[in-house]
Amino acid sequence: MKEIIIATKNKGKVKEFEALLAPLGYLVQSLLDYPDSIDVEETGATFKENAILKAEAISAHYQRMTIADDSGLAIDYLDGKPGIFSARYAGLAKDDQANINKVLEELTGVAELESRSARFICALALSNPGGQTKTVEGTCEGYIAMKQQGENGFGYDPIFIVKKLNKTMAMLSKEEKNRISHRAQALEKLIDMIDQS
Ligand code: IMP
Repeated sequence: MKEIIIATKNKGKVKEFEALLAPLGYLVQSLLDYPDSIDVEETGATFKENAILKAEAISAHYQRMTIADDSGLAIDYLDGKPGIFSARYAGLAKDDQANINKVLEELTGVAELESRSARFICALALSNPGGQTKTVEGTCEGYIAMKQQGENGFGYDPIFIVKKLNKTMAMLSKEEKNRISHRAQALEKLIDMIDQS
């Protein structure tokens, strides 16, 4: 069986990857299976650069094919912020509510929905030891709501209105989100990429 490491400790993400890769004959592992795993600093300037840094470091360390991801929210009115700083936008602790409050405050007075355009972005990098790293990117277009709505999901979901559905991401079921999310789009592209590696 071909082994592949997903460079994350997030169980939800591991499950998403497993559902997709197990039918292709991959034994999916994650950093939860490697408790002594190395820390990789995300010093890149883009989601793609950070995904590459993580995938290459882990695949070199364990000598296994590795997939890494990096994702976040880009708001046009804020010139792409919070971007790669999405998780810690309001401070060092990963505080989703503080991040939401900061974004809503920064968009105070921006009344037109069209001016509040934004997208979630997910970059995936696939690294083979000694081989060339490949990347894909998925996006989900939308707008920042005037106030938060919905209970599901995580992060910025309660303030992100999905353009196609006119509902916040937090109002969608897990299945609905998994059909349209930036991660789902990127994962779909990954299937093609992995077939060719
Ligand atoms: P990570 O790539 O999983 O570390 O995500 C970085 C940050 O981007 C998260 O902490 C969230 O703030 C934000 N983010 C990424 N994906 C999503 C999503 O699907 N919904 C809401 N927020 C997200």
